[in-house]
Amino acid sequence: MDFKEHIAIVEDWPKEGIKFKDITPLMDNGKAFKAAVDEIVEYAKSRDIDLVVGPEARGFIVGCPVSYALEIGFAPVRKEGKLPRETIKMDYGLEYGKDVLTIHKDAIKPGQRVLIIDDLLATGGTIDATIKLVEELGGVVAGCAFLIELTYLNGREKLEGHDVLTLMQY
Ligand code: PRP
Repeated sequence: MDFKEHIAIVEDWPKEGIKFKDITPLMDNGKAFKAAVDEIVEYAKSRDIDLVVGPEARGFIVGCPVSYALEIGFAPVRKEGKLPRETIKMDYGLEYGKDVLTIHKDAIKPGQRVLIIDDLLATGGTIDATIKLVEELGGVVAGCAFLIELTYLNGREKLEGHDVLTLMQY
């Protein structure tokens, strides 16, 4: 399936010069969304995954159906101040901004094989911080899956040594 048919490119959003890749048309098309999720599910099966971890907010949209299909857990990574129990945190840089990501301290059992899922790999700042959070809790990052990779931002360099799946490249 050509998933790119279902991505809307929005010029100058959220800032001038950014060509935002909007995944909501893909989500709106049940067959296309299922096909994208199914590809990640197949990838997860090949990596022997115990747990899915996804950063907010769009990592939840893509990650949760994968964990549901595999009947395994999903642990959310959220911006600071959003998770109610004890967390660990990590600073990160974004394509357009800076922030702090957190995860519950008990979200991962040491040795669990984790698949990190997000909608987009841009600069890799989000995924880099998420990998550090997972590893700090003793998880093994067994794979990283994204709908979209912006190859010109070289986020993949931050993922060296990790197994990566991306369904679309720009
Ligand atoms: C976007 C996107 C990824 C991240 C990718 O999320 O959903 O999580 O940026 O960029 P990076 O590779 O340069 O880190 P955003 O931070 O906008 O958060 P949101 O999904 O909550 O809107």
